[in-house]
Amino acid sequence: MKGVKLSFNRRISSKDSDDFFPTPHWAVQALLVYEKFQGEIFEPACGTGNISEVLLKNHYKVLSNDIVDRGYGDKHEDFLKTNFEVANIVTNPPYNRANEFVLHALKFTRNKVAMLLRLSFLEGAQRYNDIYLKSPPAKVYVFSKRVTFMPEAIKGNSGSGPTAYAWFVWDKTRKIKTPEVRWIEPDIIDKCKQHG
Ligand SMILES: C[S@@+](CC[C@H](N)C(=O)[O-])C[C@H]1O[C@@H](n2cnc3c(N)ncnc32)[C@H](O)[C@@H]1O
Repeated sequence: MKGVKLSFNRRISSKDSDDFFPTPHWAVQALLVYEKFQGEIFEPACGTGNISEVLLKNHYKVLSNDIVDRGYGDKHEDFLKTNFEVANIVTNPPYNRANEFVLHALKFTRNKVAMLLRLSFLEGAQRYNDIYLKSPPAKVYVFSKRVTFMPEAIKGNSGSGPTAYAWFVWDKTRKIKTPEVRWIEPDIIDKCKQHG
């Protein structure tokens, strides 16, 4: 398939140094079954707008940026160099900068930060010290069926992905001691896939 490569962990991606893996719409809709957001939402790494479009469809006010112009978004700038405050941030960040994205998002939000991350993002002494010690997430929503990241060209493929992902949600309006782990249930996933 032209312009498509199999990456080291068997994720299929378009050839892109900025770590572009569009989130399936259903995976965003599934988050919204469990989480509500008060105020506007910033998607700082919007790609082609998959997350933003689902948020808009659910009547949220959304601001979308990305460092790369993929034909979607308000501004094309490096999120890690922006410093304006917003109510909420929801994104699937570039894997290779996920720690920085979480820390930066936590600094500039008033309410919630929701990030689609590998489940293994829970691990790591460095990450524990840098993030979780001071800022544990309020909720970790584990997908009971795996999310598969596919480029547009092979959208129809419904196979199961090789990596486990979860939505990590931080809530700055509450004092959190330890996160609650929840499952995104199979029937919710099926419903979101049907309507997404
Ligand atoms: C995993 S993709 C996800 C795209 C989109 N959030 C989605 O879920 O469909 C990561 C995106 O982060 C963008 N990106 C990478 N580094 C960035 C940075 N420093 N600031 C803003 N966007 C960045 C990439 O261009 C890419 O579109």
